[in-house]
Amino acid sequence: MEFRKDFFERLKTAKNILFFTGAGISAESGIATFRGKDGLWNKLKPEELANFNAFMKNPDMVWEWYQYRREIINETKPNLGHYTIVEFEKYFEKVDVVTQNVDNLHGRAGSSSIYELHGNIERNFCVDCKTFYNKEDLLGSEKVPRCTKCNGLIRPDVVWFGEMLPAGVFEKSEQLAMNSDITFVVGTSAVVYPAAYIPISAKQGGAYVVEINLDGTEISGSVDYSLRGKSGEILPEILNIIKEQKGAV
Ligand code: OAD
Repeated sequence: MEFRKDFFERLKTAKNILFFTGAGISAESGIATFRGKDGLWNKLKPEELANFNAFMKNPDMVWEWYQYRREIINETKPNLGHYTIVEFEKYFEKVDVVTQNVDNLHGRAGSSSIYELHGNIERNFCVDCKTFYNKEDLLGSEKVPRCTKCNGLIRPDVVWFGEMLPAGVFEKSEQLAMNSDITFVVGTSAVVYPAAYIPISAKQGGAYVVEINLDGTEISGSVDYSLRGKSGEILPEILNIIKEQKGAV
């Protein structure tokens, strides 16, 4: 793939890189996205699964759905997209990842600075006393488990519709976006707010914003450069350019 000259020049001088990622970066690991042709929200109703009232009404059903998703995630591995982002750390002063994904694949790939806007499916907490439990504590729980301290219901530590994002994480992410030289927006439909403010903040802060997505999205028209294709293919191509620029090949 031939990259545009202005992007090429930006890569040469950039120091701070931000990756803002969504479900699309994990698609090549075999994890379904939310929207689009085979998206989860085409088949399932978020209002029955991904909100607090639904959980309180039918905790076992919601728990079972999250256990099912955990099993899928447990069996998958990070893909070239996740690993290439880790490699960027060798070539730039600062590389941060702000993700909407709860699958922990950036963590498993080895990224050193990750901000999870929507939580992490591997963690859980008690709805009453807020004690945290990791997935190992709860392996094999088919029905919703109870807190060993207060007997409250245990829920996954993910952000559900209508809930606030984890305290401080969004603010910090906005700051990183504003201060970045290049923000890569990878595999997200950019329709869920407040997360979708991140590319807007990046632009406002003067960053060069590059979108990597299979298709056009809500923000394709307002980014500096929109690249179409799989993140697991495009990111390694960009890394090769960087290696050439830095004399690493
Ligand atoms: P979506 O499912 O809305 O969008 C996934 C995007 O990835 C689409 O734009 C696809 O075109 C693109 N895509 C798919 N495969 C790709 C690939 N191999 N390479 C590059 N792009 C690819 O997922 P998100 O934008 O992450 O929220 O969704 C945002 C939020 O909506 C999620 O975090 C979740 C959901 O409801 C919560 O759970 C709170």
